[in-house]
Amino acid sequence: MTSETNLPKQFDVVVIGSGAAGLYAALSLPSHLRVGLITKAKLRTGSSKWAQGGIAAAIAPTDSPDLHFTDTIKAGAGLCDPAAVSFLVNNAKAAIHHLVDMGVDFDRKNGELAMTLEAAHSRPRVLHSKDTTGKAIITTLIEKVLERPNIHVVSQAFALQLRRDQTGRCCGVSVLYDGCIHWLSSGAVILATGGGGQVFAQTTNPTVSTGDGVALAWRLGAQLRDLEFFQFHPTALTKPGAPRFLISEAVRGEGAHLLGFNGDRFVFGYHPDGELAPRDVVSRAIFSYLAENAGDPANAHVYLDLSVIPEEEIRRRFPNIIRMCAEWGVDVFSEPIPVAPAAHYWMGGIKTKATCETSISGLYAIGETSSTGVHGANRLASNSLLECLVFAAQLHQFDPPNPDAPEENISPKVVAEHWRRETVKVQTIRADLPFLLWQSAGICRHQQTLDEAIAQVSHWRDQLQEMALAQFLQLREDTTIEFEHPDAETELRLYAETCNLADVAWLILKSAAWRTESRGGHYRLDYPATQPDWQVHTFIEGEEFRRSPLVE
Ligand code: FAD
Ligand code: SIN
Repeated sequence: MTSETNLPKQFDVVVIGSGAAGLYAALSLPSHLRVGLITKAKLRTGSSKWAQGGIAAAIAPTDSPDLHFTDTIKAGAGLCDPAAVSFLVNNAKAAIHHLVDMGVDFDRKNGELAMTLEAAHSRPRVLHSKDTTGKAIITTLIEKVLERPNIHVVSQAFALQLRRDQTGRCCGVSVLYDGCIHWLSSGAVILATGGGGQVFAQTTNPTVSTGDGVALAWRLGAQLRDLEFFQFHPTALTKPGAPRFLISEAVRGEGAHLLGFNGDRFVFGYHPDGELAPRDVVSRAIFSYLAENAGDPANAHVYLDLSVIPEEEIRRRFPNIIRMCAEWGVDVFSEPIPVAPAAHYWMGGIKTKATCETSISGLYAIGETSSTGVHGANRLASNSLLECLVFAAQLHQFDPPNPDAPEENISPKVVAEHWRRETVKVQTIRADLPFLLWQSAGICRHQQTLDEAIAQVSHWRDQLQEMALAQFLQLREDTTIEFEHPDAETELRLYAETCNLADVAWLILKSAAWRTESRGGHYRLDYPATQPDWQVHTFIEGEEFRRSPLVE
């Protein structure tokens, strides 16, 4: 790894994000390319590190890519792209072997890779490393990235705005880093910025998941797809003051029961598969159960009872869940875990081809920020880490054009005193927006609440646009800004993230209001049925929404 102190202004490729998608992309790119890996927090911060259950791959003798294909298509509720799914499942084995060769320590049983079952999988096919699979993968990928002299890692660097040249090609990005805004010039930009769970008040996602890539790409004019489809995970720890820590589906896969207030396995009242019904079904079952039975449904929870799983099995498989629950006062061996649903995974995103290309030349997207077509309206558990790797691997023959020569004028230092009042307003929007989205675009949606929320978010977006801070999201590419005030970077970053959240909130709400049916992760109380004529994608370009055919 080269030093961070002198930030180069020119790369062959800039990768934004250091989760599974960004790290694997950087490693897959040909090693003669100068790669800038930009990430807004620490190198290991992101959803990937938190992945618990594992990574799906049909490698057991009783399994096959065809079965994995069928399960993925079924979960996707009519909106998967069969070619993309076929590509995913057929490249899974190679991706896993590469991870094993690099040193990822997957659990084994009798010397063979161990597999577990998760909801809607017809076979046990989820490889795992205890309940910290993501951490095991990320740790190995980071080690490999740091060994590569062609990859220049820049952490604590926030990507603000993408740039296009006169031909319309994406050719760089502005980055807030070390008290300055720098323009980086590059032959191509790869967005690997992850999901947007922070748009909802209840989420399993880490704080960095603010939908930045989708917002940046949208503002540049890229085509987006299916943003209304969000997956709500049924079992997040629900204790006052605690983060919505995920209690992996693998716990139910190993046999744990979801219990109502009277100790009843109430999910069977909603679906014959009970706890192992598809995620959206279990989440809605909990939502409906709490609406019918709890005094204050918004703050209520049901219980996940692990007592049917042998104690040594719990200790072996779920050490991190035991530890996190204990930290919040729950002894999983003697009491059930209080759980409720939380926003978990964004199926929609920046529309991409199998080559990771977006609709804008020079701009690529990988991982949760992309919409490759593999997840449709609902993702099959443990397919997302796999998607990051399989699609990033396509970059091995990447051949970007030479980057433009960087232009640079150091503008006079900007004094930031006058942002204080604006920052107070930004903080209010940042705090209120996720609650509005949780109420209006959460597990169950309705036209009236969606329309009211759209009006409120539009008002917030107007307010944000009118602030003095807005100038820094519209900088000319020959401008480098250096801030004098020590708080300026923090204030501008909060502003930029809040703008991104407001943009993606607006896009999610508009998409959810537009789709007058229920399907996969999108459930409308006023349109509860799935409609054959809605078996189409929601396609967004600028402010235009239209239906687009399943396969173009
Ligand atoms: P991330 O890993 O989220 O990485 C995004 C990166 O982009 C981060 O480094 C972030 O800092 C950076 N970034 C974002 N915005 C900017 C910006 N403006 N400038 C610079 N950098 C930026 N999937 C599975 O397949 N199996 C599982 O078991 C599983 N368990 C999960 C458990 C939890 C708790 C969660 C939240 C998700 C889980 N998922 C699981 C989903 C899966 O982890 C994610 O979909 C996947 O890791 C996304 O990887 P990514 O690289 O696209 O994004
Ligand atoms: C889990 O462990 O339940 C999460 C798996 C996933 O989101 O794919």
